[in-house]
Amino acid sequence: MWIYKVKDYQEMSRRAAALLSAQIIAKPDSILGLATGSTPVGTYEYLVSWYQAGVLDFSEVRVVNLDEYRGISRDDEQSYYYFMKKHLFDHVNIRPENTHIPDGCGSYAEAVTQAYETLIRLLGGADLQLLGIGRNGHIGFNEPGDSFTETCHCVALAKSTIEANKRFFTREEDVPREAYTMGIGTIMRAKKIVLLASGEDKAEALRGALEGPITSWLPASVLRLHHDVTVVADEAALSLVNG
Ligand code: F6R
Repeated sequence: MWIYKVKDYQEMSRRAAALLSAQIIAKPDSILGLATGSTPVGTYEYLVSWYQAGVLDFSEVRVVNLDEYRGISRDDEQSYYYFMKKHLFDHVNIRPENTHIPDGCGSYAEAVTQAYETLIRLLGGADLQLLGIGRNGHIGFNEPGDSFTETCHCVALAKSTIEANKRFFTREEDVPREAYTMGIGTIMRAKKIVLLASGEDKAEALRGALEGPITSWLPASVLRLHHDVTVVADEAALSLVNG
């Protein structure tokens, strides 16, 4: 595991965008596993600006996103599909048919998750998986206690996750209670993983992930068992880490 300690959110974003760019340049048809949330927004801004500057070409890139709320349609502004279009897909030359996110409105949860897992396997798995970390240590929407071997599945969101995500909604009761997510097993099959963390509110989770016991009660701790993980985190997020 490589840990890059950077000054702040801006530097984290630039470093993460550089890692993603290196992947795209080395393998133009890379399968990128991407994340949503506040953490990667700056990373996507850098990618868009480097694309506009002619440095990057997304024409062969394929994307498999980590997760999607259940019961929310793609054109809903709260959907992760909408988020990805707004922050990345609409601004680069990625082909829409090469962007994949679980179908939040699929009728049967089991059908949605099995189809998504199959798709990721058929594509050969992510070459690089980008991750954020929840305050409770979740990755994707794998909440504390979820099995390390799980594939794509439907989850009931933890109370703390609903609490954290309500900032994106007008009312707390509008935050979906369930989501589709790649499982930890799916994430761990990625060839490379890049974990991002910024801010003091991630410090406790990051300390647990990097220095605590490897336990399903802190899902991100499993990443220490992966052979190629890069952590890019700012000083505030790493403030409780000793090493
Ligand atoms: C998002 C995702 C989540 C977030 C995590 C951190 O696709 O899978 O695990 O990465 O909840 O969210 P932010 O970045 O908003 O703090």
